[in-house]
Amino acid sequence: MKGIILAGGAGSRLYPLTLVASKQLQPVYDKPMVYYPLTTLIESGVREFCLISTPHDLPRFQQLLGDGSAFGVRIEYREQARPAGIAQAFLIADTFIGNDSVTLILGDNIFYGGDTFARAFADFTAGATIFGYHVNDPERYGVVEFDAQGRAVSIEEKPKQPRSNYAVPGLYLYDNEVVAIARALKPSPRGELEITDVNNVYLRRGAMRVCRLARGFAWLDAGTSSSLHEASAYVQTIEKRQGIKVGCPEEAAFRRGFLTLPALAAAIGRMPHCEYRDYLEGVVTEARRLGHGQP
Ligand code: G1P
Repeated sequence: MKGIILAGGAGSRLYPLTLVASKQLQPVYDKPMVYYPLTTLIESGVREFCLISTPHDLPRFQQLLGDGSAFGVRIEYREQARPAGIAQAFLIADTFIGNDSVTLILGDNIFYGGDTFARAFADFTAGATIFGYHVNDPERYGVVEFDAQGRAVSIEEKPKQPRSNYAVPGLYLYDNEVVAIARALKPSPRGELEITDVNNVYLRRGAMRVCRLARGFAWLDAGTSSSLHEASAYVQTIEKRQGIKVGCPEEAAFRRGFLTLPALAAAIGRMPHCEYRDYLEGVVTEARRLGHGQP
């Protein structure tokens, strides 16, 4: 399955932070925000990526992530000239997607915990899979309503009167039909190709699966100064308590078998001495102690 990371938008709610670096490049505790969605998809087994951003910000992402080889993946880059909606990503990336299925993750969505995603990716065969997450303020999101049998019956974009507390997070899995569906969409009243309209096509076709994310699973929003700060505090709390990093793509790639132990050691060798490097050296030492991946 191919992976799209959508890291566009003006980030105006974070002004003036976003004057020179886009929202998805801002630090969330100890790493750039985009490391988190990249790690989520690597953990889910995605190895081929297309990162989409504005013409202004794209060079910064290229500088940060390169061709992906430091993470054992391949990353290509495409421009979204103006913010014309999440679903436009499938048109921008159509030649990248080719005949494959595709997952799209929003560059400002931070997930942590559980194996729901890994299972959803492993189980995916056709149609669409999205997720539902209980939130306090569903009117800010796409909202999914379930019937008594737990089946999804409606999905609405930012409804004034939400029919449930289940928001749809920015991680979506689609079969190859999504390109044709996106091509046939009409812009919404706000002038965007809406991801919720794509999801409703799958829902009407009876081809939509909605997995509810369990209690204890974290989906963090980092789009305002205060939620950005809270996301940093959350990551710091977990990392300090557990001594493991959240959103470390090199580690995820190693554990997934995308980077061999020597390749990880080489990637570490290119890093300056810092806490991030110390952490990854600990991962290597532990793996060697356990006899994993010895050359
Ligand atoms: C977008 C989607 C919305 C989804 C949200 C998740 O909202 O339109 O359906 O719930 O991402 O982050 P936006 O980022 O445009 O506010």
